[in-house]
Amino acid sequence: MSTSAKLYEGKAKIVYGTDNEQQYLTYFKDDATAFNAEKKGTIVGKGEINCTISSALLELLATKNIPTHFIEQKSPREMLVKAVKIIPLEVVVRNIAAGSLCRQTGLKEGQKLPFSLVELYLKDDNLGDPLLTSDRLTILNIIPSEQSQILKDYALQINQYLQEFFSLCEIILVDFKLEFGFTQEGEIILADEISPDTCRLWDSQEQDQNKKVLDKDRFRRDLGKIESAYQQVQQRVLTQIEKLKNS
Ligand code: TMP
Ligand code: ASP
Repeated sequence: MSTSAKLYEGKAKIVYGTDNEQQYLTYFKDDATAFNAEKKGTIVGKGEINCTISSALLELLATKNIPTHFIEQKSPREMLVKAVKIIPLEVVVRNIAAGSLCRQTGLKEGQKLPFSLVELYLKDDNLGDPLLTSDRLTILNIIPSEQSQILKDYALQINQYLQEFFSLCEIILVDFKLEFGFTQEGEIILADEISPDTCRLWDSQEQDQNKKVLDKDRFRRDLGKIESAYQQVQQRVLTQIEKLKNS
């Protein structure tokens, strides 16, 4: 397989075409941004860790009948994926109040939500990825409401599998963001990545509110020890995947 043109460069990944028009190659960078790229930095080794964790989790979800773009991890930083047209929505699932939910509603960080909250945000950096209402979604006409329901249903199923999986890793899945895309056949599949960049992950054995953070909030909030937190997640995820494979 050889790569062709760079199709897209985002804040954390580059997408290349390949000689097979149904497949893309995604390259995971060490670059880190937060607050709509107002804050920029590097997390050394992040590309390899996020590519490896995402590959493992997407493969796991595929075994649970969640269709995903994952084909193969080609190298530590490269993932071969099915070519999709990304739906410009960020699908966020929240189990525990944190981040923008606390900022916007006054809920206290760490409060368990009475149900898993699924929210759709418009994926548009120029607009700062605003939270959508269902009427705004209808007016923007990005996808019909039956399809947005499919995204929400997948998101809740994924939440259930990931919560169970992470709890075996002694990690609490606080919240996370998903992206979906359309294949050339028009099927909706899970795309992008699932990693400490896109999830809030708390060490369930740690009581200290700052020490328990194992995700990109360490970068967003200048908590230090970012690389070791990402390595910790990778090690726990890979160990647990191995255990599941051998059981
Ligand atoms: P938020 O609390 O900042 O809205 O973030 C909710 C979740 O979505 C959190 O796990 C981080 C993730 N996320 C992304 O992956 N990309 C983004 O651009 C944002 C804002 C959040
Ligand atoms: N990825 C987003 C950005 O740079 C936001 C975030 O993850 O906090 O800007």
